[in-house]
Amino acid sequence: MTTSRIIPPATATAPGKIILVGEHAVVYGRPAIAAPVRQVRATATVSQRNGTGVLLVAPQIGLSGQLVHLPDDHPLARVTRLTLDELGLDDPNWQIQLTSTIPIAGGLGSGAAVNAALVRALFAYASGLVNDATVSRLVYAGEQLHHGTPSGIDNTVIAYGEPVWFIKDAALERFTPGARITLVIGDSGIPAPTRETVAAVRAGWEADPLRYEGWFDAIARIARQAKNALEAGNAAALGRLFDENQTYLARLGVSSPKLELLLAAARHAGALGAKLSGGGRGGNVIALVDEDAAAPVSEALLAAGAARVIVTNI
Ligand code: MEV
Repeated sequence: MTTSRIIPPATATAPGKIILVGEHAVVYGRPAIAAPVRQVRATATVSQRNGTGVLLVAPQIGLSGQLVHLPDDHPLARVTRLTLDELGLDDPNWQIQLTSTIPIAGGLGSGAAVNAALVRALFAYASGLVNDATVSRLVYAGEQLHHGTPSGIDNTVIAYGEPVWFIKDAALERFTPGARITLVIGDSGIPAPTRETVAAVRAGWEADPLRYEGWFDAIARIARQAKNALEAGNAAALGRLFDENQTYLARLGVSSPKLELLLAAARHAGALGAKLSGGGRGGNVIALVDEDAAAPVSEALLAAGAARVIVTNI
């Protein structure tokens, strides 16, 4: 008589993320600062299935398909295959269920978070141990499909789950803010795939490299000053740096009238500074606030047309 062991399902989650300063310039080797956002998250559950092979189910993107039938340039398929390879498995009879509360194409790292949850749940179900660096590396392979030339900041901050000072291809540096800072995140409700904004900035850079390199250098200086302000717990200085970073993002062509409207509303309601976060054009804005200004700034963002707001602390 043979007995088969029933393995209980394994579930893992991963947070969203915001870029505090330095998006886009980070693709060109400049430093940037990012932090996890735990109010939104992606969840993956792996369980045994009766059918043959891996079945991927992600209702929010209308996906229910067998791994063997998914093309290799599908980010979820790519990350699943790479993770199974790492575990020494081929195509086990497993179901992977994926859900997320992170808006898709909203600049909050939805793709990287879903893939991070996926990697962790696969390792957990296979009873394997996985470290943050491995999660980050596997998720990066999916990011390359999501948006071509990723800096690696999204997979890094989401895999490590803590604030990071990030420079492409350099050793990761964590840092500790000197005081708790409060941010209001406002969703413009306009989806803006990072692939498109990264490509638009690249086209501008190719057409006028000197001008763009100058802007990237200015953003790098802002990122260094922002790190100092964060470490010193100087929210007022950090707020001014948000505003300054935003002027360069507008020059790079990744702001939009709706984003500028939201930023103006947040500043008018008492934010210390505000900027877009992530790829831009749509997606999210972030407003730095004193704790007691979180409510009026949230209300102002909603009144100006934000689809939703999230208050988070770092
Ligand atoms: C996206 O969250 C941040 C960008 O700088 C792209 C990247 O770093 O890969 C726009």
